Amino acid sequence: MCGIVGYVGDRSAQGVVIDGLRRLEYRGYDSAGIALIAADGALAVDKKAGKLANLEKAIADSPLPAATTGIGHTRWATHGGPTDGNAHPHLGRTGRVAVVHNGIIENFAELRASLEQAGHEFGSQTDTEVAAHLLEREVADGADLTVAMQRVCSQLEGAFTFVAVDAHDPDRVVAARRNSPLVVGLGEGESFLGSDVAAFIEHTREALELDQDQVVTITRAGAKVSNFDGSAAEGRPFHIDWDLSAAEKDGHDWFMRKEILEQPRAVADSLLGRRTPSGSLHLDEMRLDDDELREVTKIIIIAAGTSFYAGMVAKYAIEHWCRISVEVELASEFRYRDPILDNSTLVVAISQSGETADTLQAIRHARSQRSKVLAICNTNGSTIPRESDAVIYTHAGPEIGVASTKGYLTQLVACYLLALYLAQVKGTMYGDEVDGVMTQLEAMPEAVAQTLETAPQVYELAREYADRRAFLFLGRHAGYPVALEGALKLKELAYLHAEGFAAGELKHGPIALVEEGLPIWCIVPPRGRDFLHDKMRSGIMEVRARGARTIALVEEGDDSVDSVSDSIIRLPRVPVLLQPLVAVVPLQLFACQLATELGLDVDQPRNLAKSVTVE
Ligand code: F6R
Repeated sequence: MCGIVGYVGDRSAQGVVIDGLRRLEYRGYDSAGIALIAADGALAVDKKAGKLANLEKAIADSPLPAATTGIGHTRWATHGGPTDGNAHPHLGRTGRVAVVHNGIIENFAELRASLEQAGHEFGSQTDTEVAAHLLEREVADGADLTVAMQRVCSQLEGAFTFVAVDAHDPDRVVAARRNSPLVVGLGEGESFLGSDVAAFIEHTREALELDQDQVVTITRAGAKVSNFDGSAAEGRPFHIDWDLSAAEKDGHDWFMRKEILEQPRAVADSLLGRRTPSGSLHLDEMRLDDDELREVTKIIIIAAGTSFYAGMVAKYAIEHWCRISVEVELASEFRYRDPILDNSTLVVAISQSGETADTLQAIRHARSQRSKVLAICNTNGSTIPRESDAVIYTHAGPEIGVASTKGYLTQLVACYLLALYLAQVKGTMYGDEVDGVMTQLEAMPEAVAQTLETAPQVYELAREYADRRAFLFLGRHAGYPVALEGALKLKELAYLHAEGFAAGELKHGPIALVEEGLPIWCIVPPRGRDFLHDKMRSGIMEVRARGARTIALVEEGDDSVDSVSDSIIRLPRVPVLLQPLVAVVPLQLFACQLATELGLDVDQPRNLAKSVTVE
């Protein structure tokens, strides 16, 4: 939530900062702002409510002075509405220091009251402005901006990333982080700061990862890291291997559409290099040894949103293949119910961004109770893998569209890999069985590509149903979480009432929602599982008998639901546990197209942000 950029070097800081904000806009788009230190040492600030385009227009109408040091921000509002005044950067009392901020300063009210008593006046309702005043008071008293940042951060409670400049010290930008994302980019004679590497990926591939409670000072010469108590620290260098084109729309109307189409590649990349020459499965980056895994008697999966639905699919796979009991829990609920954890419980945290605050707090709780935590994550350098005992990285590449698509598919792949690995270690599957499922998984990129060919038919359905205000999604077994995911996609992109149900639950209440003309997506399990398949068919008949318009997702060669379906989308034939990888694809395409038909912003739906770094 909120995108932050900082730059010092020889280029136009305005260009670098605005380009960086454009790449980070998916993190928040309520307002945007920039502060530059002009050649004459004056601070030039512009900020505007609304999307980045509003700021760009304001700058075009009234250009800012040339500068080579600057900071910028794109906001997802927490304290104070999305107005010009509440937009970042915020300035200190005399306008010497400018600050941008991501996160929440929990004790800002007390700090603000004491500053007000001392005569400070505030121009916004934000918590951030307090930090600007405190920083400026420190530099006015003689501290340099780095020391000022260390002192101020030590007084603050909550989660925050700050990036600040001092007009009297034009060649440095200082940043700090606690529980909020921040990475440093290191170029030749220039340095960058960003909420994530997308902010500077076009300028450098060398980056530095920071720990909690650290301050970093960037200059043309590089970066110096310290702790809040002033002691020196080291950042962890890493190389960014994401492709720049992955962060571009490449001629598509939406990042989301492009990311849906990239899924065959993302699935293939996430499977790459997972087998040894002898054919057994290995997970290089795992960091948990096999003896530890053999001790595991229970797994708890924690995640939020789409990642939670990936976790639900994982439960079916892990319990079936490994015979270990699995609980799946919303990260935001997990630690507040006092869960029973011990050192034989493996907690699996699934997070595309690696920064979701609810998930991060949940893993901290699990580790404090002696459980081992394994992260499934797409973002190198992010907090959740760093704070976990082990990690499996997905290889989706940057996901810019706010709604997760390729992130979800690659999470499913990582969950299957984990399940198979556990089965191999625990001996619940023979080597050739693991090998057999791996071969099926390796065929999935092709199956996903084949499913993408349904796009024209799905788009036609989106046009047909564009005037409806409600949709249902039904599934059974591993198709149930897919129904939930299909409904979430439609809610978040098209702002429609959409609900997913386990088809067997219908008659326990939800069937009362069914009325003449209500569109219902029905995910039909493969025929191999006849008991599931036939029950699903009965479910379809029940809703159709009550006037629903049924759209069936059914494997090719299965014509058993044709007579009870208004529309049929054919899926490639795949095993039941792997079916989510293909079944979700038409639902993603449908939500994307329906939102497009409604004239909505698919990549930046209202009220949302990509990486939810506040609880
Ligand atoms: C929905 C979506 C969200 C995220 C959720 C968790 O399309 O993207 O529901 O899945 O906010 O985010 P991560 O996976 O980054 O922890």
